[in-house]
Amino acid sequence: MENKFIPVCEPYLNGNELRYVTDAVITTWISSSGKYISRFEKAFASYLGVNHGIAVTNGTSALHLALVALGIGKGDEIIIPDFTMIASAFAIAYTGAIPVFVDSEKETWNVDTKLIESKISKKTKAIMPVHIWGHPVYMELIRSLAKKYNLKIIEDAAEAHGAEYQGVKCGNLGDIAAFSFFANKVATTGEGGMVVTNDDEIADKCRYYKNLCFPLNGTRNYQHNDIGFNYRMSNIHAAIGLAQVEKLDFYVQQRRKIHNLYLKYLRDIPGLIFQPEKEWAKNVYWMNGVIVDKDKFGINRDYLMQKLREKGIDSRLFFAGMHKQLSLIKFGCDISDDYPVSEYLEKNGMYLPSGSNLTEEQIKYISETIIRLQK
Ligand SMILES: Cc1ncc(COP(=O)(O)O)c(C=O)c1O
Repeated sequence: MENKFIPVCEPYLNGNELRYVTDAVITTWISSSGKYISRFEKAFASYLGVNHGIAVTNGTSALHLALVALGIGKGDEIIIPDFTMIASAFAIAYTGAIPVFVDSEKETWNVDTKLIESKISKKTKAIMPVHIWGHPVYMELIRSLAKKYNLKIIEDAAEAHGAEYQGVKCGNLGDIAAFSFFANKVATTGEGGMVVTNDDEIADKCRYYKNLCFPLNGTRNYQHNDIGFNYRMSNIHAAIGLAQVEKLDFYVQQRRKIHNLYLKYLRDIPGLIFQPEKEWAKNVYWMNGVIVDKDKFGINRDYLMQKLREKGIDSRLFFAGMHKQLSLIKFGCDISDDYPVSEYLEKNGMYLPSGSNLTEEQIKYISETIIRLQK
């Protein structure tokens, strides 16, 4: 066990992936036409309980496409958590709109919805909740603010396949949502993404803009009335995606099981704080994030990460806040506010190996190593 490196996440491809990909190759449907695209889109949409899925190249392009389909552009403002992955903000910047940052809750690590209203201006067009590490955002206040100020809700559900808010799956909580299928996600296509929505018109806009604004119907006369994007997913990627969605319940179960195993071994260790699961939520624990409270744990986060690496255990830092990103400052984002929770998370948070194929033996080894380092 000592010598085998444990990565932070490995894809788990234990269903029909090879069979479907082989079929795509043998039949030579390797580009963005082919049966696996629509089968994957339908299967994932049906899993979430939404009307439409539009497969794209990655989660970042899914977010961008969702914003474009809602008509977001220059002069608009979109509210996002300060503590998120940079793609949430970049996708907004691609449209010319400005991301506006809101601090997070210390408990769930998600956006603090109580702080959103003070950031709404005449330019605000949408709120983008991000379900961090697979824990759904508390949507009640976001929904009432969206209603009060006539704002759209764009879920960044990149990390939240199968997560639920009050029994409803993430991706089905606003006007439109974006998922990532990067290799470390609960379901993967290697690289890939999907936009999902219940709105027929918005779905058609996504299909239109995703394919260079070729008309959805009628002859292809190479006249393009709008500026579009090539965000088409290949049939090969969709073949992997379909196989993954067929087993998505299993992968979610695995992620939850792994989290419970970490709790089993580490719950009583003072100074290690895991992400909770609120009573209204189903957390899929995409990653097992942990806050290291140096005063109670004895050693700090950076030292723990370094020592784990020496023992062959991979881990990752938490995100750095959006208000600290030079790219976004140069872009014109307002960073005059304070973001104490986001800074606390960045300074003390790390995530442990979390892939769906981890064994109890590995988790026990990781946990025992952590406990030994503390002593
Ligand atoms: C919250 C969040 N949004 C967006 C993305 C972007 O997804 P992708 O890497 O597929 O472009 C990620 C990726 O990890 C993410 O964690």
